[in-house]
Amino acid sequence: MNVERPTILVTGASRGIGHALVAHYLKNGAYVIAAARNVDSATANSGDCLWVQTDLSTSEGCEKVIRYVGQTGRPLDVVIHNAGMQQEIDLTDAAGLRPQIEAELSLNLVAPAVLSKSLVPFIRQPGGVIVNVTSLVSRAPKPSAPIYSASKAGLASFSKSLRHQLRPLGINVVEAVPPLVATDMTAGRGKRKMTPEAMAEAIAQGVSLGRAQVAPGLSGLVLALNRFAPGVVERVLRSS
Ligand SMILES: NC(=O)c1ccc[n+]([C@@H]2O[C@H](COP(=O)([O-])OP(=O)(O)OC[C@H]3O[C@@H](n4cnc5c(N)ncnc54)[C@H](OP(=O)(O)O)[C@@H]3O)[C@@H](O)[C@H]2O)c1
Repeated sequence: MNVERPTILVTGASRGIGHALVAHYLKNGAYVIAAARNVDSATANSGDCLWVQTDLSTSEGCEKVIRYVGQTGRPLDVVIHNAGMQQEIDLTDAAGLRPQIEAELSLNLVAPAVLSKSLVPFIRQPGGVIVNVTSLVSRAPKPSAPIYSASKAGLASFSKSLRHQLRPLGINVVEAVPPLVATDMTAGRGKRKMTPEAMAEAIAQGVSLGRAQVAPGLSGLVLALNRFAPGVVERVLRSS
């Protein structure tokens, strides 16, 4: 990034990969706008970091972020759509599903789409970057998390359309595909997980290098295998 003090917006900044992204960019001298429902009181609203307490599964929550970005008066260099939730949903049990489904789709897919569209005028042109954090389940669904898988497949597809539409403005769109990372989302499952810090580092490096995709560790291998043997990948991810 050829900007002396870049401005970075990170959603889902209170925990996991998002928290590590905030720490990474603050350490490297950036100004960070950090969004989540639970604001980190340790770093809240220092001169380097503006926290936005917001629920991104709602329209008002997304509008609040857009308002805060406008008020800073700073062009955004990087926007990282990282906030996400994963629910186990039993599709054979029809009771009370709609609110659950809507909340997951709203946070994982609608919020990045709405924010991307609304924030374009605030993103540096040329040179700005939007990062959408998807998942390997965008390529092969995890049956126990059907809405999560669908939302990430949607976000991966959206990233491609967005990249084409924003290219003339000089804004790059990066799809970040984490492998299993040791965060609250994966607590109690999987082994040999990547640290959130390593994932944050990989995203920041991909952004700096102008990549279209960031897929560190096992993710890169799985995506390559998926091109030749999608059935194998589907079997592996089914049991993950
Ligand atoms: N961990 C993995 O192995 C893995 C693998 C593939 C993809 N991913 C993706 O990577 C991203 C980060 O995952 P993670 O593992 O770091 O998850 P995490 O530890 O569960 O953190 C999720 C973050 O999203 C925020 N969030 C949740 N609901 C929100 C809402 N309604 N409004 C605003 N913020 C909300 C949370 O903050 P609050 O609770 O404070 O709101 C938290 O900061 C997600 O998009 C996830 O799907 C993770």
